[in-house]
Amino acid sequence: MPLFDVYPLYDVTPVSGKGIHVYDDKGTEYLDLYGGHAVISIGHAHPNYVEAVTNQVETLGFYSNAIQNPLQKELASKLEQLSGCKDYQLFLVNSGAEANENALKLASFKTGKKRVVSFKKGFHGRTSAAVAATDNPNIVAPINAQQEVTILELNDVEAVKTELEKGDVCAVIVEFIQGIGGLDQGTAEFFEQVDALCKANNTMFVADEIQCGYARSGKFFAFQHYNVTPDIISVAKGMGNGFPIGGILIHPGIEAKYGMLGTTFGGNHLACAAGLAVLNTIESESLIDNVNEVGAYFIEKTKDIPQIKEIKGRGLMLGLEFDFEVGGLRKELIYNHKVFTGGAANKKLLRILPPLSVKKEHIDQFFDALVKALAKIEVNV
Ligand SMILES: Cc1ncc(COP(=O)(O)O)c(C=O)c1O
Repeated sequence: MPLFDVYPLYDVTPVSGKGIHVYDDKGTEYLDLYGGHAVISIGHAHPNYVEAVTNQVETLGFYSNAIQNPLQKELASKLEQLSGCKDYQLFLVNSGAEANENALKLASFKTGKKRVVSFKKGFHGRTSAAVAATDNPNIVAPINAQQEVTILELNDVEAVKTELEKGDVCAVIVEFIQGIGGLDQGTAEFFEQVDALCKANNTMFVADEIQCGYARSGKFFAFQHYNVTPDIISVAKGMGNGFPIGGILIHPGIEAKYGMLGTTFGGNHLACAAGLAVLNTIESESLIDNVNEVGAYFIEKTKDIPQIKEIKGRGLMLGLEFDFEVGGLRKELIYNHKVFTGGAANKKLLRILPPLSVKKEHIDQFFDALVKALAKIEVNV
C-alpha cells in the first residue's frame, strides 16, 4: 500500500538522535537546528526522557480517563510551578490541532457564541475550527469553511474592536510569535488592548503557545513578555519532546462540567511520563536561561552575515530573512553541510528551532556552514 503522498520529502533518513544531533542510515551526523519542527525541546534521546518513558511503558502504558491517574496531577502541578500560571486547570490531549479545537470549543461553551477572530499569517492546525482560523485557504476544505471565522491584520486593534463589539465572537486566537507564517509578532500595545477588549466583550482570549511556548521564547510562555491574561493557553510540540501530547491551560474563571470535553488517549500514562521528564529537565538544566543566553549569542552572530536582512522572533524561535528565497540554501545546508533548518510561508525566511539545550559551539558550527553555503549559492546565482 503506498503512503498518501502529502509531504514533499528531503532525501535523508534519520534513524537515531542524541542531544542536538541526528544520524542517518549511513551513520552521517546532522546538526539539528530544526528540532523536528520545534518538537525536540530537551534534546534527542535525553537520558531522563528515555528512563521515564521506558520505566512507564514497562509499568503501565495506558489506561482510560475513567480511573485515577496521579501522573496527570503531577504534570499539572509541575506545569503550574514552572509556567507561573497559578490556579489554571489542565485538560490533556494528543496534538496541537486538538488543543486548539478544544480551546475554541470551550470558548464557545463558556460564552454561548460561535464566531472566532484570528490573524493573517496565523496557523492553528488542520482540524475543523482550528484550520478555519488558519490563514491558508489551500488547507481549508468546504467542511471546515462552514465555521464562522474572521481573519484580521495583526496590530489592527480598531478592527478587533469593531468585530468584538458585534457581540458574537467567542474567541480571539493568536500566536504571540507566529510560527509557519514567518515569525512576525504583534506589538505589546496591540496584545494588551486585545486582552482588554476580550475582557470587555465576554470573548475568550486564546494564546496559541503550541510553537512559541514551553520555554522557546525565553520565558515559559511567549505571552508572558506582555501584560496579558489569556483565558485559555494551548500547548503541544515541545511538551513531549517527540511523544504526542498537547493540552489546554484553562483560567479558573472557566468552570468544568462532566462530559464537556473528553478524549481516549489524551493524558495517558506514557504521555504524562514523557511530559514530566520534559518539565523536570527544563527545570534541572535551567533551559530557559540557556535559551536566553544562546538566543542572544545567535543574534550577535547574525551581525557578521551581510546577506541577512532582518532577524525575527525571540529566544530560540528565530527567523533569518534574506532577500532571496531560501529553498536552495536549506538544501545546501542539509546535503552539503549536514545541518537541518526550517522554512516558512515567507519563502525568504530560514527558521531556527533547535532543541532548547543547544550550545554556543553548535551555533558556531551553524554559522561556519551558513557562510560556506551562502558563498556556494552566490556562485550558482
Ligand atoms: C502555532 C501552531 N498551532 C497549532 C499547530 C498544530 O499542531 P499539530 O500539528 O500538533 O496539530 C502548530 C503546528 O505546527 C503550530 O505551529
